[in-house]
Amino acid sequence: MSLPRGFSDEVRQQADIVRVASDYLTLKKKGGSHWACCPFHQEKSPSFHVNGARQFFKCFGCGKAGDIFTFVMEIESCSFPEAVRTVAEKMGIPVPAGGGEADVGHDEAERRRSELLHLNQQAVAFFEKSLTESIEGRVALDYLASRGITPETRKAFRLGYAPNGWDGLSSYLRSQGASRQQIETSGLVTLRENGSGFYDRFRGRLMIPITNPQGRVIAFGGRIIGEGEPKYLNSPETAIYTKGNNLFGLYHAREAIRQRGFVILVEGYLDFLVPFQAGVRNIVASLGTALTETQVRLLGRYVRQVVVNFDPDAAGVSATKRSLEMLLQNGFRVNVLTLPDNLDPDEFIQQRGAEGYLAILKTSSRFLDFIVDQSLRVRDVSTPDGKVEAINEILPYLRLVGDRIERAEYVDRIADRLKIESRLIREEFRRAVETRRTQVSELARQASTPVKPAERTLLTLLLADKSLRSIIIPLLKREDFAELRTERIFESLIDFERRGVDPDWSGLSRALEGDEMAQDLLSEFLSGDEALAPVDRDDERGDDAPDDNNGGSGRRADYQTTTPEQRREELRRRALESLHGLRSLKLVERLNALQIEINQAQRADDPSLLISLLQRKIDLAREQQELAKWQPG
Ligand code: GTP
Ligand code: MN
Repeated sequence: MSLPRGFSDEVRQQADIVRVASDYLTLKKKGGSHWACCPFHQEKSPSFHVNGARQFFKCFGCGKAGDIFTFVMEIESCSFPEAVRTVAEKMGIPVPAGGGEADVGHDEAERRRSELLHLNQQAVAFFEKSLTESIEGRVALDYLASRGITPETRKAFRLGYAPNGWDGLSSYLRSQGASRQQIETSGLVTLRENGSGFYDRFRGRLMIPITNPQGRVIAFGGRIIGEGEPKYLNSPETAIYTKGNNLFGLYHAREAIRQRGFVILVEGYLDFLVPFQAGVRNIVASLGTALTETQVRLLGRYVRQVVVNFDPDAAGVSATKRSLEMLLQNGFRVNVLTLPDNLDPDEFIQQRGAEGYLAILKTSSRFLDFIVDQSLRVRDVSTPDGKVEAINEILPYLRLVGDRIERAEYVDRIADRLKIESRLIREEFRRAVETRRTQVSELARQASTPVKPAERTLLTLLLADKSLRSIIIPLLKREDFAELRTERIFESLIDFERRGVDPDWSGLSRALEGDEMAQDLLSEFLSGDEALAPVDRDDERGDDAPDDNNGGSGRRADYQTTTPEQRREELRRRALESLHGLRSLKLVERLNALQIEINQAQRADDPSLLISLLQRKIDLAREQQELAKWQPG
């Protein structure tokens, strides 16, 4: 990927950021500049600004800013040279073939990206090798065979295996010359909370590389071998990987997608791999979530027609609806395919082969028919109330049908099925348009508040251990977790405990429906994070020797020297300490907020308010003192 020195400057001079950005965004011209909804964060009104005269972009919502290359690097998750190449191609500037000195060192961020790409490449090779060449890897090979994945597919997608130790991959990367700092930011390891080093994030899992549209590996999905929770563990976001910016399989499928003129959208890794292997190659996977605008635009570079084939369960249906909206708003033609007997694409193909699948594909329904079917399935439309509910549910989707003739046709069909006059539907429709019910479902996503270390440890422990739950959950007060990022996880855990049910990923993730970030966190906590890892000996020695001998045998010794009772006691102590830590932090936050109110009351000269605020401050301070006296045990 080397480009001659100076080529990027040449491209920069000739390229137009407005033209390039409008390949990805719907830009609206206002005055001298262009605006769009920001592709880098979720928003409903445009705060993303593209300045053609000065050739830069800036989002006034999330603060991201930069030039044409930064923009392309962000949106394509690619390196600087790749961005230069992409822009050059878009602008019709001939790209010189290799040679010359690499156009690198342009900026720090770009260097880090290419390092990360390199690290991921090494990780792929490591995982591949441990799949095929280690004894441990055989179980994973057998598992792949049991799922019907052939060696050819395995090689084409570079599937691998992450061995079950704490530092297999990280030691390997170190031996290949990666620095600790590079590894830390790669998403391939988890940092220890006490600040001393890290350990492999993926352990004992089948590894599925996730590539960008240029075919470079930017992240991984790790599947547990056989049954267990969490079923999948995915890479966190890094400098080269943003969730919701990629579609799994796009690189391998793009030729077929262009050729066939439509794409099949599925949910899971296996729902992609199995059909692809069977010859259904115009397919991509969204990886279990509703489509984002960025993904839809990415797809828009290859096709305008999509068949959505998500799981028929409740989560699948709601993901389907949200994805439909996104696709329709971006001008796609959309069909929905529902497979019989609750089968997912993987299972269906295993049973009936590619021919069976292609046959049923022909029966997929236009999107509004799917919505009407769904709506009629869940309610009794023979009653007036049922009819009203159904109309209210269907109308917003009708609005997404851009074509008037098509819309009129739908109005008649809906009227027919609900057994009401089409005139009524048309009137209701007009009213709905007037009241601007634009958004169909709440796409709002909770703003991300960082997760506190104590919060992470506590939840990891609670999720891992039943007896800890029975000790700690009764101690929890609402205010301990109110307004935390993980509030809903705490609530669900308490709810499961009250019902006497063991919490697992699928149950909990249903309870967290619509909050993908919380679901991701849940997966991380469930994967038995560092809270369960043995205590770091180096740390306890209290010396400050450079932490450079990761993998030394001394560290793991305490697993062998402790009895199960000691270990249980240790975990209980850690859980109580985290709860205590969380309470202290929250008290500090409350005190800080209170102080702001006090200052305001002083300025506003409101003595009675001031007195009551000061009283609260005294109470909080007393609480803080009590908390400080606390001893675990
Ligand atoms: P198989 O069970 O192996 O057939 O997997 P699948 O790829 O068909 O997955 P499934 O349909 O169960 O889920 C769809 C997608 O949701 C997966 O590919 C993952 O991307 C995601 N997913 C499923 N389980 C988990 C989980 O435990 N954690 C996270 N973070 N994502 C998950
Ligand atoms: Mn599946």
